[in-house]
Amino acid sequence: MLIKSKTEIASHEITDQAVFESRRQFIKAASVLSASALLPEVSRAEAGKYANITRSTLSTTAAITDRADAISYTNYYEFSTNKQDSSLLARGLTTSPWTVEVSGETENPGKYHLEDILQANPVEERIYRFRCVEAWSMVVPWVGFPLGEMLKKFKPTSKAKFVQFTTLYNPDIMVGQRAHVLEWPYVEGLRMDEAMHPLAILATGMYGDTLPNQNGAPLRLIVPWKYGFKSIKAIVKIEFTETMPATAWNKSGPGEYGFYANVNPEVPHPRWSQSRERVLGSSIFAPKRETEKFNGYGEQVASLYSDMDLAKFF
Ligand code: MTE
Repeated sequence: MLIKSKTEIASHEITDQAVFESRRQFIKAASVLSASALLPEVSRAEAGKYANITRSTLSTTAAITDRADAISYTNYYEFSTNKQDSSLLARGLTTSPWTVEVSGETENPGKYHLEDILQANPVEERIYRFRCVEAWSMVVPWVGFPLGEMLKKFKPTSKAKFVQFTTLYNPDIMVGQRAHVLEWPYVEGLRMDEAMHPLAILATGMYGDTLPNQNGAPLRLIVPWKYGFKSIKAIVKIEFTETMPATAWNKSGPGEYGFYANVNPEVPHPRWSQSRERVLGSSIFAPKRETEKFNGYGEQVASLYSDMDLAKFF
C-alpha cells in the first residue's frame, strides 16, 4: 500500500478501508482517554528531528554514549549477525508509511498508522542505561512515549495477561531472515504489569533525531531494566494474549535466554558471567563496570518481581 503525502490527497482516499476505520476508532478512543490527542497533527516529515524535545525526569544523569558508537555497534539479526554490517544493510528498509496491527484481547483491534499512534502519544526524551545480555552497556537518549499509555488506549480486556510484539518479516530486504539464525519473525513479550510500567517506552528516535534503521526504526521497544534482546525493533504487530508469548531468543535457547531477562549480576549466563559489563566506547583495557541489578532501576521495578525466584524465572 502506497501512501502519498497528506497535503496532496485525503487519507481516506488512499488508505484501505479497514485501516482507515480502525484509525478513526483509535483516534476516537484516544481522544476520550487523553487530552494529548488534541495536539496538532505532526507529519512524519516534520517529526524527523526532535531538536527541542522535553527531557523526562525519569532520565539518568549517567554519561551518554557517543552517538557514533551507539549507531555503529548494533544487534539486528534480520540484517546480519555482524554488529558493524547492519547499518549498511538496513538502509534498504522503508520505514514510512508504517502500520502496526493490534490484535488479541483488546476492544480496539485494527491496523493503525504510525503517524496516528504518534499523534495520540507525544514523545519525550528518556536517557536510559541499556545493558545487552552479551555484557556490554551504553547510555542512550531515546525519544519515545510510555508504552503503557498507548496500550491503555487499545483497551485490553481482562483476559490480557501478556503483550506480544512482532518485528517485520521481509526476507527480500531483511536478508538475515533468509538464514535460520532465529525463528522468524522476531517476537518478544512482556507481562501486562511490566508493559504498563512507566519506564517501558516505545522509541521513535535517539540523540534528538529519528531512529536510524539499524537501531530499530521506525518503532522499537525499550525496557531499560531488562537485557537488550527484549527491546524488539521495527514492530509491526502488538497482540494482547492470555498466555505467555513464545519469544524468539527463548525459543532458540531456553536455558540461556529467559522470558523475563531482567538484568541480574547474580545470575550468570550459562556461558559467561553477568557481574560486570564493558562500557561501549571505552578502551578494551578500561576497567569494566559493575552490573547493577535491574540495570540500576531496582527501586522502580523490583516490586514487580517480589514473589519470584529470579534465578528460576531468569
Ligand atoms: N530486535 C530485532 N527485531 N532483531 C534483533 O536482532 N536484537 C536485540 C534487540 N532487538 C534484535 C532486536 C538485541 S540482542 C539487542 S542487545 C538490542 O536490540 C540492540 O539494540 P541496538 O542495536 O539499538 O543497540
